[in-house]
Amino acid sequence: MPPTIIKVVNKTSVREPQMGSRWPTHRLSAIIAGTGAHVPARVMTNADLEKIVDTSDAWITERTGMKERHIAAAGETASDVAMVACEKALAESKVKAEELDLIVVGTVTGDMPFPSTACVLQERLGASRAAAFDVSAGCTGFIYALSVAQQFVANGVYRTVLVVGVELMSKVTDWTDRSTCVLFGDGAGAAVLKAGKDTDTGILGTYLAANGHGGQHLYMPAGGSRHPASVETVQQRMHTCKMNGNAVFKVAVRNMADAVKHLLQETGLGIDDLALLIPHQANLRIIEATAKLLKFPSERVFVNIAKYGNTSSATTIIALDEARKAGLVHPGDNVMLVAFGAGLTWGGVLIRF
Ligand SMILES: CC(C)(COP(=O)(O)OP(=O)(O)OC[C@H]1O[C@@H](n2cnc3c(N)ncnc32)[C@H](O)[C@@H]1OP(=O)(O)O)[C@@H](O)C(=O)NCCC(=O)NCCS
Repeated sequence: MPPTIIKVVNKTSVREPQMGSRWPTHRLSAIIAGTGAHVPARVMTNADLEKIVDTSDAWITERTGMKERHIAAAGETASDVAMVACEKALAESKVKAEELDLIVVGTVTGDMPFPSTACVLQERLGASRAAAFDVSAGCTGFIYALSVAQQFVANGVYRTVLVVGVELMSKVTDWTDRSTCVLFGDGAGAAVLKAGKDTDTGILGTYLAANGHGGQHLYMPAGGSRHPASVETVQQRMHTCKMNGNAVFKVAVRNMADAVKHLLQETGLGIDDLALLIPHQANLRIIEATAKLLKFPSERVFVNIAKYGNTSSATTIIALDEARKAGLVHPGDNVMLVAFGAGLTWGGVLIRF
């Protein structure tokens, strides 16, 4: 079944003045005003995993590029980890929580099935004016959340938006399954978007895509209306992540490369115009194969997978925060985030700093 392209590129636009309308009459751009990231304190190394399942540091390193990941403590929640990232992003952007118009959280491992983790964060941050909702797009969660938030800002509906990617995959991991338990880590990242007037910086374009037929390759069977929680679902480990790694690997490379090409085409930029490519950190081999397919130089691809593993919807925003704080992002740089995940979903966001 062919993939469904949900949405292609949102360029900042100039709107015509309308009587009584709140649409802006000038060009509005969603600017990244600040970012923050946080991971739980506990580090789990490949050597630690050797004691849990039949695996080895050599296999994990060679097949994935991962050396260690951070794992949440018992009782530590997605909102606990996200709070720290949000506070850092708000502090850097000099925005008070009460000034936020909207909070959008990309996650599939929120505090509870409902209410949304965005609402939990709204309360904990004291963002009393903000609307709040979660976006479910697997590991593409932050890209989807950022794209949705960008629409509100570019259309003049909201001026200040907090966008979060948070995942505690350790809470839905089958720790007896060596083919999945070595891959994931926990973490969160956040970005504050502000409306900028008549500037050529900010989000230049977004691209979102999905192919529901591929949902069978990466999913958690129970806990929803199809298989509500029962003794049987727990006994059969149906509340944990199931994955056909080989099937996901194959489409991941092609889809991430396609997302990069679409975004460049729609924004009129060339591959050489990209200062930095920040891909989803799921497997070093996937990252390398994508860069090779795009003929993009590996020294301009940001990789931190060895330290964190796959933090799902948090990988790209944790990486962007690290890249910025390491001085790798300069004024005027075009930086592209690109990811793929459960759904199947994939997409990208092109930002000029
Ligand atoms: C999961 C993944 C790392 C597996 O790597 P791979 O090279 O494809 O490995 P395979 O699945 O072909 O397995 C090769 C062998 O290694 C074994 N193996 C799997 N996990 C292992 C582990 N942790 N340690 C040691 N051996 C392992 C398999 O059992 C298999 O053994 P066999 O040949 O005796 O049957 C890789 O397919 C991948 O990264 N896929 C994408 C996953 C992903 O990105 N998921 C998140 C999406 S957001």
